[in-house]
Amino acid sequence: MAPTLNNPNLLQTKPFINGKWYDSKSTKTFGVFDPATEELIAELPDQTLEEIDEAIQITKNAFEKYKHTGTYDRSKWLRRLYELMLENLDDLAKILTWENGKCLTDAIGEIKYAASYFEWFSEEAKRNYGHTIQPSNPNNKVITYKQPVGPVGLLCPFNFPSAMGARKAAPAFAAGCTCILKPDAQTPLSSLALAYLAKEAGFPDGVFNVVLSSVESTPAVGLKFCESPIIKKVSFTGSTGVGKLLMKQSSSTLKKLSMELGGNAPIIVFNDADIDLAVDQSIASKFRSLGQTCVCANRLYIQEGVYDEFIEKFAARVQAFKIGNGFEDGVTHGCLINQKCIEKVEDHVDDALSKGATVVIKGGRIPDLGKNFYSPAVIKDVTQDMKVVNEETFGPLAAITPFKTKEQVIEWCNDTPFGLASYVFSENLNTVWYMSEFLETGMVSANTGLFTDAALPFGGIKESGFGREGSLYGMDDYTVIKSITLGNVYR
Ligand code: SIN
Repeated sequence: MAPTLNNPNLLQTKPFINGKWYDSKSTKTFGVFDPATEELIAELPDQTLEEIDEAIQITKNAFEKYKHTGTYDRSKWLRRLYELMLENLDDLAKILTWENGKCLTDAIGEIKYAASYFEWFSEEAKRNYGHTIQPSNPNNKVITYKQPVGPVGLLCPFNFPSAMGARKAAPAFAAGCTCILKPDAQTPLSSLALAYLAKEAGFPDGVFNVVLSSVESTPAVGLKFCESPIIKKVSFTGSTGVGKLLMKQSSSTLKKLSMELGGNAPIIVFNDADIDLAVDQSIASKFRSLGQTCVCANRLYIQEGVYDEFIEKFAARVQAFKIGNGFEDGVTHGCLINQKCIEKVEDHVDDALSKGATVVIKGGRIPDLGKNFYSPAVIKDVTQDMKVVNEETFGPLAAITPFKTKEQVIEWCNDTPFGLASYVFSENLNTVWYMSEFLETGMVSANTGLFTDAALPFGGIKESGFGREGSLYGMDDYTVIKSITLGNVYR
C-alpha cells in the first residue's frame, strides 16, 4: 500500500531534465515494484537513446554557466539541500523503504547519511585549493588550480538509492560539475525525490538531471554515457563485472572514471577481542541491508580460542531478528530486492554444505511473508574452497571459519581479487596495526562494524575499483589540475 507522504510532490515518476519533469515520448515503460508486497508502485518511461542524448546536451549547456558560479553559492545550495533532506526525512525514508524493501529505521539512517554528504561538501566546496610551485628555472613560477572536470554521468545502484547518488552528486556540485544521474531501474524514486529537492534548494536548471531506463535498456544508457565525448567523467557503483565493461567502453573517450565495485570483506576476530563488541559489530556489518552492501562482511574468521563462544552469541543475535515488511513496527530487517539475490544466497549455502560446512542456523525463504523474504543463514567450518569465500554473496548468509595465526588469516583474507573493506577485532593495538598494514583493502575498520561516513575516503583497491568518495579527497575525482607557468617574472 502506498505510504502517506506529508509532501506528495516528493513522489515523482518522470525524468527530471533542465529543472523540469520531462514528458518522455518513449512508447515503452517499466514498472517499479514494492519488493515486499510485489505490488506495482508506478510505471515510468523507458527513455529513448535520443532523449538521453538530449539530456546529455542539456547537462553540457548547464555546465558552461555552472562552472562559473561562485563556490560560496554552491556551498549555500548544498547546505540548503542537506537541510531540505532532513526537513523531509520521514517522507524520503518512506519512499526508500517502499521501493527498496529495507526497514524504515534503516531507511531513516540512509537519508541522514545521504544528507550528510551535502553538508560535508557544502563545506568542502570552498576549499578547492591549488599549490604554488617553484620549478627548476628560478625565473618562472607555477600555480596549480583545480577546475571542474565537466559534465558527469552517475550510475547508481539499488542498495542505497539515496546515499549513493548523494555521495556522487555532492562533490560534483561542489567542484562545479553538472550531473546526469541514472538510478537503478528497481529504485529510481529516491533519485527523483532528490531532484525535486535540489531544485527547491536553488540549484540552477540543468545542473542535476535524472534520466530513466528499464533494466533491459540500462546497458545501452551506460554505453551512451561512456562513449559520449560530452560527458567527461563517469562514476559507477555496482558489480566488478559491469565496472570492467564500462571501463572498456570508456576507452574511446579516455574518460575519467570512479569505480566503486564489489567487495569480499572479511571480519577477523582475535582471541583477545572484546567478544560482545565483536559479536554486536559483526551483526551490524554482516546484516546491514540484509547483506546487500559492498562493505558487508562476507566471511567471518574467528580465532580458535573464541570460535565456539562467538558462534553461540552471534547465532543468538540472529535468532532475535524480526524479518518483515519494512514499514511494520519492530521489524529489524526487511526483504531482499529480487529473486536473483535470494538465488545467490541459496547457491552459496548449498555449495558450502556440499563441501563440508555445518549449519548453525538454517535460514531460508519465508513464503508466508512474500517472494523476496529470506531468513538469514549462519554456517560454520567454512573452508577456502567454498563459493561463499570467493564470491560476494550480497545477502543474509554468515559464513564462519576458524583460524590459528594472524599470518594464516592474512593469507586467506588477501587471497581474493577484491579489496574493498576489512574488519579487525582485537584489544591489542599491535595486532590491529599489523593487520591494518597487511590487509589488502582500501578500508580497514578496527573494533567497529559500521565505519562509513562522509568524512571518510571511501573506496577500494584491486578489483574493488578506484577513486575515493566523500572526505577531503572526494572532490578530486570531479576536478582536473591545471598548471599555469608564469615565465620570466624577474624582468
Ligand atoms: C556500498 O555498499 O557501496 C556503500 C556502503 C556505505 O556507504 O556504507
